[in-house]
Amino acid sequence: MITSQNIGKLLEYIKNSKKNESLFFHINRYVIKRTTKNKKYNLSLIKNNIETKFELNVLYKSILEILIPILRKKKKLTIAQLGQSIDGRIALNNGNSHYINNIKGIHYLHCLRSISDAIVVGSNTIKNDDPQLTTRKIKGNNPRRIIIDGSLSLTNKYKIFNDGYKNIIFTKSKKNKILNNTTIIRLDKNNFTKNIINQINKLEYKYVLIEGGSKTISEFINNKYIDLLQFIIAPIIIGSGINSLNLKEIKNLNKALRPKFSYNILEKELVVNLFLNS
Ligand SMILES: NC(=O)c1ccc[n+]([C@@H]2O[C@H](COP(=O)([O-])OP(=O)(O)OC[C@H]3O[C@@H](n4cnc5c(N)ncnc54)[C@H](OP(=O)(O)O)[C@@H]3O)[C@@H](O)[C@H]2O)c1
Repeated sequence: MITSQNIGKLLEYIKNSKKNESLFFHINRYVIKRTTKNKKYNLSLIKNNIETKFELNVLYKSILEILIPILRKKKKLTIAQLGQSIDGRIALNNGNSHYINNIKGIHYLHCLRSISDAIVVGSNTIKNDDPQLTTRKIKGNNPRRIIIDGSLSLTNKYKIFNDGYKNIIFTKSKKNKILNNTTIIRLDKNNFTKNIINQINKLEYKYVLIEGGSKTISEFINNKYIDLLQFIIAPIIIGSGINSLNLKEIKNLNKALRPKFSYNILEKELVVNLFLNS
């Protein structure tokens, strides 16, 4: 069966497979091995269809249904992901966002992080949530953490500076500061977002996950950097708070973004995938 112990490895195998290659696996609780059709297997993946000879738990089935089509595209992708209420809020005005979405969705988020080579967040998300940005709910790879801290206002008190994993910070500040385990990269304040994108592109990552918040994702959308924008919509109304996006104002609805899209369900929440650059 698929568990938190082996789903990370399964996703890694799928990420590293060739385009449209059929995959066969022998899986038990802790170990997962690739095999061939002729050998003993209990999970197969042909095109995007997953078949199992065991019962697949609803949560892991949903996670695979969302991530397999992404991994099978075999394309470099920048993915932005936001959990929001039905009225488009990702946090209260006081910054609290725990929890808008079903708590089990965190397993999905950690799977999404595990397939990502880098994860990007803005400094307000670090200040308000103090996240670890790891894949600790599953056994998965931890992506490189990139933080955008324009004014270099973060301090060593946050968790990401105290767990031994490395960080990159992009800033436009000239302040002299040392942050634990962190490479600080100073960029020209003119066209700051474009400069960040150029720097990330140089790192040649396959999947870059932009995890928020609103300002960070909106800036990247304005600069056409996001390929897949994914909303996980909880059936709750908050009525006030931080909007998921704040894009450039438009004066005519024919200027609205109307991208290709698909839907999934994750723990009774709607996942909407918008393909902004297709
Ligand atoms: N529900 C969810 O899925 C989710 C996910 C993540 C975060 N959140 C919530 O979102 C809230 C934070 O969102 P937010 O919009 O306030 O802030 P944010 O995007 O986390 O951080 C914004 C800050 O990051 C820097 N920054 C990021 N991108 C930049 C760019 N392209 N150019 C210049 N500066 C850039 C700036 O720092 P300086 O001001 O220093 O210049 C800016 O003020 C938190 O309360 C968090 O809980 C929710």
